[in-house]
Amino acid sequence: MANKARGAEPPETTDLDRLRSAASECRGCDLYRDATRTVFGEGPRKAEVMVVGEQPGDQEDQAGAPFVGPAGRLLDRALEEAGFDRRKIYVTNAVKHFKFSRDERGKRRIHKTPSKTEVVACKPWLRAELTSVHPHLLVVLGATAAKALLGDDFRITRSRGDAIELPEFDAVAVATVHPSAVLRAPDRDEAYQAFVADLVVARGTR
Ligand code: URA
Repeated sequence: MANKARGAEPPETTDLDRLRSAASECRGCDLYRDATRTVFGEGPRKAEVMVVGEQPGDQEDQAGAPFVGPAGRLLDRALEEAGFDRRKIYVTNAVKHFKFSRDERGKRRIHKTPSKTEVVACKPWLRAELTSVHPHLLVVLGATAAKALLGDDFRITRSRGDAIELPEFDAVAVATVHPSAVLRAPDRDEAYQAFVADLVVARGTR
């Protein structure tokens, strides 16, 4: 059956607690069926910087918080190294539910990339977070978040580290690779240094 997503319908409010509570009941697409819970963004309600990832992973789905697993630990280290104060950053994802398949034994949950339909269905939550937090800088991690915020034609390989004006949100966006891609890179040190370099550029735009 075709995946017909209704799309999220956030309440008309900039109150993050109300948004988080409403998102916990979201049925805007089918991902809520298999995920444990909605993983909404976290951080100061008026942060100058927002980091946007793809979707919660296995550990985030269990903990109910974004970027608490291996990719999150690498992200935290890289942000600090680039000179950001991690505690002042609002961290969220383009898609708020974990999408996965099971391995052959039915045990391990294996990450699946969210579809365009799911990204579009979830976008109203991201838009509501942007309107509410009103950051000046968006750090966009990986292709899914880039598609959600910068359009389908955006290519990280071509435009990583570029500062892009987003008049709709009164913000500047800088896209880079997803920290999971750094963890998987054949030369992890080199990939990590390039990742930090993009974050340093991002920091310079503020
Ligand atoms: N990857 C993401 O994109 N977001 C998370 O929260 C965790 C892993």
